[in-house]
Amino acid sequence: MSQKQSYDLESIRKMIQALGWDKSFSDLQELESYNKIQSRFFDEVINFFEQPLPSEIQANLERIVALTTLKPGEIILDVGAGTGVLIPHFLRYKPKHIIACDLSAKMLAVLKKKFPAVEIYQTDIKDLRLPDASIDVAFLNAVWPNIGDKSGALKNLSRIIKRGGRLVISHPEGKEFVKGLKKAMPFPLDTLPEQSELKKLLKRFNFILQLYIDEPRFYYALGARS
Ligand SMILES: C[S@@+](CC[C@H](N)C(=O)[O-])C[C@H]1O[C@@H](n2cnc3c(N)ncnc32)[C@H](O)[C@@H]1O
Repeated sequence: MSQKQSYDLESIRKMIQALGWDKSFSDLQELESYNKIQSRFFDEVINFFEQPLPSEIQANLERIVALTTLKPGEIILDVGAGTGVLIPHFLRYKPKHIIACDLSAKMLAVLKKKFPAVEIYQTDIKDLRLPDASIDVAFLNAVWPNIGDKSGALKNLSRIIKRGGRLVISHPEGKEFVKGLKKAMPFPLDTLPEQSELKKLLKRFNFILQLYIDEPRFYYALGARS
């Protein structure tokens, strides 16, 4: 069988149905419950993330990292890193160190097995206790719609990213795909932000939006820490 080019929403829908979850979680307004459900969900769908990546996704991940112009010796934070799909792309640029955080223990266990040198934290990004100004670049790939407390996340990222450092918000499938995914997921997801909305939001947390690309199957935003 030839390798898939991209993900199709129908097979994702079927995989989620097969989990047999009912959608009537009562207290998802509470961040703690929302995060618990997500960590359980991503633990349960780990096999999906262990499949070989479709070729279009792989190419888009490479483009996300290339657009960020990493320099050798940088310290990179991968937020909601999952199984570490971005890490092989980071390694080409010879970073000094890579740190990953995620809510799902199983995702992080797979990542650590593949990339033992990566430092891992199982936590919500808003609670990640790294020193002030310790990160050169933070990536949030395919995770923005899942972050329950975006202000808390951006506040912490603004603290830990160095002045002049970068924040990347990306999705290798783009905005429309996320809208389709929202309907299939057993918990609420957000959409990816429009340019003007993101510019305003980032500014509140001392990031200047420097690049915004919104294509039918690709989303990339780059903020610089002022
Ligand atoms: C769709 S997966 C994407 C994983 C990976 N970035 C990729 O591109 O394959 C989203 C991941 O974000 C994690 N996540 C969701 N909310 C988070 C938060 N507030 N802080 C850290 N990780 C979070 C989930 O546990 C999940 O592993």
